[in-house]
Amino acid sequence: MSTTSEQQEIVQLRQLLHRYNYSYYVLANPEISDYEFDQQLRHLQELEQRHPELFDPNSPTQRVGSDLAANGFRQQRHERPMLSLANTYSFAEVEDFYHRVEKGLQGDFEIVCELKFDGTSISLIYEDGALQSAVTRGDGNMGDVVTDNIRTVNTVPLQLQGDFPSRLEMRGEVLLPWQEFNRLNNERCANLETPFANPRNAAAGTLKLLDSKEVARRKLDVILYYLLTDEQVCDTHYDSLQKAHTWGFQISEHTQVCHSLQEVLDFIATWDEKRHTLPVATDGMVLKVNNLQQQKRLGSTAKCPRWAIAYKFQPEQAHSRLLSVSFQVGRTGVVTPVANLEPVQLSGTVVRRATLHNADFISQLGLFEGDVVSVEKGGEIIPKITGVVMSERQAMAQPIIYPKTCPECGAVLERIDDEAATICPNRLCPPQIKGRIEHFVSRKAMNIDGLGTETIATLYDLGLIRDIADLYDLKPMQLTTIEGLGEKSVNNLMASIVESRKVPFERVLFALGIPGCGEQVAKILARQFKNIDAIANASMEQLTHINDIGVVLAQNIINYFDDIENIRLLERLRSHGLTMETTTSQEPTSDILAGKSVVVSGVFSQHSRDEYKAIIEQNGGKVVSSVSKQTSMILAGENMGPSKREKAEALGVRIVNEDEFLAMIK
Ligand code: IVH
Repeated sequence: MSTTSEQQEIVQLRQLLHRYNYSYYVLANPEISDYEFDQQLRHLQELEQRHPELFDPNSPTQRVGSDLAANGFRQQRHERPMLSLANTYSFAEVEDFYHRVEKGLQGDFEIVCELKFDGTSISLIYEDGALQSAVTRGDGNMGDVVTDNIRTVNTVPLQLQGDFPSRLEMRGEVLLPWQEFNRLNNERCANLETPFANPRNAAAGTLKLLDSKEVARRKLDVILYYLLTDEQVCDTHYDSLQKAHTWGFQISEHTQVCHSLQEVLDFIATWDEKRHTLPVATDGMVLKVNNLQQQKRLGSTAKCPRWAIAYKFQPEQAHSRLLSVSFQVGRTGVVTPVANLEPVQLSGTVVRRATLHNADFISQLGLFEGDVVSVEKGGEIIPKITGVVMSERQAMAQPIIYPKTCPECGAVLERIDDEAATICPNRLCPPQIKGRIEHFVSRKAMNIDGLGTETIATLYDLGLIRDIADLYDLKPMQLTTIEGLGEKSVNNLMASIVESRKVPFERVLFALGIPGCGEQVAKILARQFKNIDAIANASMEQLTHINDIGVVLAQNIINYFDDIENIRLLERLRSHGLTMETTTSQEPTSDILAGKSVVVSGVFSQHSRDEYKAIIEQNGGKVVSSVSKQTSMILAGENMGPSKREKAEALGVRIVNEDEFLAMIK
């Protein structure tokens, strides 16, 4: 091959490999196999060796790094200072920021919410699309030039593509993903080196290594979140990032443009929980005014921009001492151990109690009396115990023993094979009775107002109610003597009890509290069998023939109606006038949505959310609560949850608005 054609080939191969690299690392959508990529890279290496005059520090071959130790790092002044962000720790402070922006702008504005990635910041300078330098933040004015190390990061484009400005700066965060962080720390422990405390320290430490070959081995990643250029590329920050993505930059896919304070707060709340599922560490959210003109108008203080703010997630874990363990009996007889803790502040609330789930969980934890435990906020509200601080164990402490008898009624507890739960088999155990009544009166069941946990306990203690049917025998006279129940409350309660006789059959069925028979199953049974007698007489075969009903649930239903006590109870409820059959208005009006699973999310203007659910069911559809591959469509109102939208888009689930939906069922 002639020299000129080899030179041309080098140029073409470099371009091609840059593109393959972008497709593989940034778009996660490889165009060729790893083997083919390696072959072509090797070929380029050979050609480059023959043509040293064509050396390019941004060639795809330079990503592997070099073990020639550099002489420390050169310092470089930032063209524009790298400011930091003001931190906030509460929704109230976010609200203050929002109102400050509102006041400053005196007009409409949008806020872009982004994750705050917990790594080390970097400034990348590009000239004519080629990476010129990569500089750390340093003191905000001067930073270390770490270009050689940054070249090893596969998600940093060495050569941009498309319609990029001739000179630009892109800022972002260099990260060490959790998986790499754990691998690196295991390696360090095995070599008796001190492990890194967190991915942030690990990323910063790695970037400052003098051996870029070692940097390449550690597989850093980068997410870019700020474009600076003299040319006007877009009007908004969000659009600038999307544009930068087309040039080759990796940006976060979890960014949202918000139009109200509530949307901002909802987005933060969603990510406070969801961030734990991300492959990289995050320590908060960054909120930025979207419009670049508006950013300019708001300006900056000496340290921070006025158009942006960081919201820091609160520490998620705390330590607390175990004071005692209570064993609670639920309405179905399941006994749940609960840890009573010394009050401790965690994620904005005081935690006093945490579930210990079951006997297995306690023994797995190896929990002793008086232990100090780590408490974490699992979901939004429910705290969980994640471990015991062994160094704090008291000398004479004894292990927590699971009781053999029910702490409420003394019955011998039972443990069903293969199941973690322990059960109190006594249906007349007081908390079971009270729990069944609480469930019966709840909003989605009989919706009887004015009967809270305490009132039910009082009525039970006074011997006025022993089961759900007793509610319909209550007399106003009996109630007026109860402390806390004034005449008005009694009247309201009595009216609510009377009103509950009109509750449709499917909700009565749900209210009975048959184990495993939730709202959805109750609806299916009501629609399929039409009345209580048909359900009571249904065979195992008939029940399991229905799609959503498995053998265990079918057996629960059969057991319920085999029990003479339940049959007597149902007779009493029937004699009190409760609805025991499907009325014609509940029959499906069309089968347009037959076989379709629909998620309803957001706020609607023409019907309430519950009305839409009823409409879906009347048209043969099924209402489901979370988006999955099986979801047929989402009926989306205003302020639809961002996580639902994201998931729907990712899964390609159709999203329809109110008008489209109503037109569809017409
Ligand atoms: S914007 C002028 N966006 O948080 C605005 N920063 O003090 C510049 N960070 O050191 C920063 N994720 O390294 C921005 N999505 C994000 C970020 C982010 C992490 C870091 C950044 C900076 C610190 C804020």
